Amino acid sequence: MARLDVQNLTVGYVMKRNQRDLTAVQELSFTARAGEFVAIVGPSGCGKTTLLHTIAGLVAPQQGQIALDGRPIDGPGRERAMVFQSPALLPWRSVLRNVAYGLELQGVARRQAEGIARECLALVGLADFAESYPGELSGGMQQRANLARALAVQPTVLLCDEPLSALDAQTREYMQAELQRIWLERPTTTVYVTHHIAEAIFLADRVLVLSASPGRIKADLAVDLPRPRSLSVQRTPAFLALEERIWSLLERPAWLGANDGSAAR
Ligand SMILES: Nc1ncnc2c1ncn2[C@@H]1O[C@H](COP(=O)(O)OP(=O)(O)OP(=O)(O)O)[C@@H](O)[C@H]1O
Ligand SMILES: [Mg+2]
Repeated sequence: MARLDVQNLTVGYVMKRNQRDLTAVQELSFTARAGEFVAIVGPSGCGKTTLLHTIAGLVAPQQGQIALDGRPIDGPGRERAMVFQSPALLPWRSVLRNVAYGLELQGVARRQAEGIARECLALVGLADFAESYPGELSGGMQQRANLARALAVQPTVLLCDEPLSALDAQTREYMQAELQRIWLERPTTTVYVTHHIAEAIFLADRVLVLSASPGRIKADLAVDLPRPRSLSVQRTPAFLALEERIWSLLERPAWLGANDGSAAR
């Protein structure tokens, strides 16, 4: 677990089409305490993925700093693991060999890597599928394997970019409960991007609401609901009030243009 400090971060791209600069994230600051679960919501295109990629060290910021326990980061590092929306497992490797892969890349001996991979597969409920191939798993199971792969390298910061959005509604709810269980068993500083507001509240200690592009922090809301939370917490007045508050803060995506937005909800 590590404290993550994002300070005054500005990230931009040069658009290939016209060589114009595009600011994706602007002067954004927040701190995730060690072991804290921070969810990020915001309109499509506001810079959420860019923010995660910058924390992962895959994109260089134009301005600002990111630090882990006070140490500035510069480029990718094994202490930060990313979970993407689509599992991207290697189809020719068994589930076990997929989960062990990151460790092997780090130079961990195969037997030891497979031992750790088995522990992580047990944690995500896939112990019996270690020898299966990704194509033999359902979408939800693939996403569990993906999570096991990220956890195997024992990251101090876990970065999740809409990890459940490819799943059907029922599996998604089930996976939300599973993610909570896994996080409680293995507390990790987590930055979790989602479009699903109830999912953000259910999982997080805090929800950051970003503005439309370029993304800035519009609100930083604490979720004071005791854990473990059952899925039925989503029907309690405190939960519904927070959900309504976040809905009211969310802006239309900038690329949808100005419109009265009356059809949006
Ligand atoms: N590689 C890139 N090159 C140029 N522009 C990019 C690149 N990646 C993202 N952008 C631009 O940066 C802005 C933010 O994109 P980003 O993917 O971070 O948004 P997002 O909040 O993750 O959106 P979504 O919710 O749809 O996933 C967008 O305007 C997008 O067009
Ligand atoms: Mg995105």
